[in-house]
Amino acid sequence: MIMVEVTGKILDLLRDQDRYLSGATMSKIFGISRSAIWKHISSLRREGYDIVAKPAGGYRLIAIPSHLTTWELQSGLETDVFGHTMHTLYEVSSTNQFAFQLALRGGEEGEVVVAESQTRGKGRMGRRWESPPGVNIYLSLILRPQIPPNRIPLISLMAAVACAEAIEEVTTIMPAIKWPNDLLIKRKKLGGILTEADMEMDVINFVIVGIGINVNMPNNSLPSSIDDTATSLKMELGREISRVALIQKLLSKVEVWYKWFEENKEMDLRRRWEELSQVRGRKVEVSFMGKVIRGEALGIDEDGALLVQEAKEGVKRIVAGDIRVGGW
Ligand code: BTN
Repeated sequence: MIMVEVTGKILDLLRDQDRYLSGATMSKIFGISRSAIWKHISSLRREGYDIVAKPAGGYRLIAIPSHLTTWELQSGLETDVFGHTMHTLYEVSSTNQFAFQLALRGGEEGEVVVAESQTRGKGRMGRRWESPPGVNIYLSLILRPQIPPNRIPLISLMAAVACAEAIEEVTTIMPAIKWPNDLLIKRKKLGGILTEADMEMDVINFVIVGIGINVNMPNNSLPSSIDDTATSLKMELGREISRVALIQKLLSKVEVWYKWFEENKEMDLRRRWEELSQVRGRKVEVSFMGKVIRGEALGIDEDGALLVQEAKEGVKRIVAGDIRVGGW
């Protein structure tokens, strides 16, 4: 077992105990010296775990840190690969940017970057993503899919479906998906996905899936410009939601959908997306770079583009833009 794995196992053991556990017992369980046990305990303390020690009594876990740690996120994680390598940061310019750099240096599929805050969180279409510390989820995942570049939008749709399902399982609220991948509750924005790719000619080197979800952000904590249009799970439910539980569920869901996607079962993914987005058959208005297209949404095609039936001009295939549903 490598050093970090032992630390995680020691944490799991302490978590299960409601009494002191002696250094001697632990050193027997893990087959390492008592001074090695002490080193693992020290590293957990540095991460913010409150572990008290009693001479001749041993160690006892009193409190876990309120910030996200790799140990918390990996303990009970039910994925096969996603999140098994995890980078938890207190502050970063953008988790997408950090993950992009990691991937350029060989970061592997399933590696995850999570931060407590972002100083330059990026939204779609060059917008800023508000990223206050300690309350929300800012997560980026490295993928290395073997697909043609025109299929990348499907990865964003997949992430949106996975997020919506994870949120429903953890909170019972099912958010709506607004094309391409906004997560909404009562028409207010709860989260979004920013997918960025590194490509050469027709080959994808890697894709970074960046997920931002407003979890425990309190009322009135947003700049007035977006205060009316954004929400958080706490604002909707009136209680705090465990970010750890939500991230773990999210990674499980993304991994499951990604496998389906790799097995060419994207038809199921498209069907599920259409079900959750409820956009099919609705009147929509899509704007992109000063152009506006109005018509009836027919659904999404095999590459994840939105199909809109314009009254006079036939069916338009839309790959990027902002959508307004109904009311025009
Ligand atoms: C959108 O505009 O709806 C997409 C928002 C995506 C925000 C997330 S937060 C984690 C990751 N890092 C970023 O800089 N952006 C994405």
